[in-house]
Amino acid sequence: MPRVLMLPIVVALFMTTTAVLAQHAEMMGHNPTGAMSVADPRVRLSFPPALQAHFLGNMREHIQTVDAILQALAEADFDQASRVAKENLGLDSPSAAGCKPSEAPAAGGAAKPADSMDAMMQLYMPEPMRQVGLAMHTAASEFARVALEAKQHHDTTSAVAALAAVTQNCVACHSAYRVR
Ligand code: HEC
Repeated sequence: MPRVLMLPIVVALFMTTTAVLAQHAEMMGHNPTGAMSVADPRVRLSFPPALQAHFLGNMREHIQTVDAILQALAEADFDQASRVAKENLGLDSPSAAGCKPSEAPAAGGAAKPADSMDAMMQLYMPEPMRQVGLAMHTAASEFARVALEAKQHHDTTSAVAALAAVTQNCVACHSAYRVR
């Protein structure tokens, strides 16, 4: 084969191999543009930038809430722990709107979430992920109830157990998904 023909073929072969390797690396959770990392089994979701920023902001609020609940429990302030959970993480808190099934009318009778970001969340979150989110908010409402009960008997153990049911769902979702 004449040399002039060989060069484009070699270049084309090289480019194909590079593309295949990059695709494979992405599949295996490696970052093709940076240093190799350990395999990442999490499903990567592509959220639009505005949704991603909103979502991660929500997440930082979630950990602030868990922190505030723990502070209250450490002071045996069960009322405060219950209130913080109910208002910031419970099923009826604004943070739960994006995880509620879109077809189910909200308590107020409105079928659609008021916030467009919540509507986007419903659109972009895979169904199993939404369910873990809903389970987490449900567990937070349950914690709010248990914490008030625990107050009667100064039963910190049962309150902490109910909080662990919340964080279990945080962990389950973090093990399964990423947005970047
Ligand atoms: C339904 C899924 C889901 C649930 C439930 C969930 N998270 Fe997340 N969280 C995520 C995803 C996805 C990310 C982004 C991970 C990534 O791309 O690196 C994230 C990121 C975060 C971050 C990092 C935010 C940042 O700015 O980098 C924090 C903190 C966090 N979550 C806290 C929590 C806490 C605390 C809970 C439970 C009270 C919780 N999350 C529940 C899915 C979830």
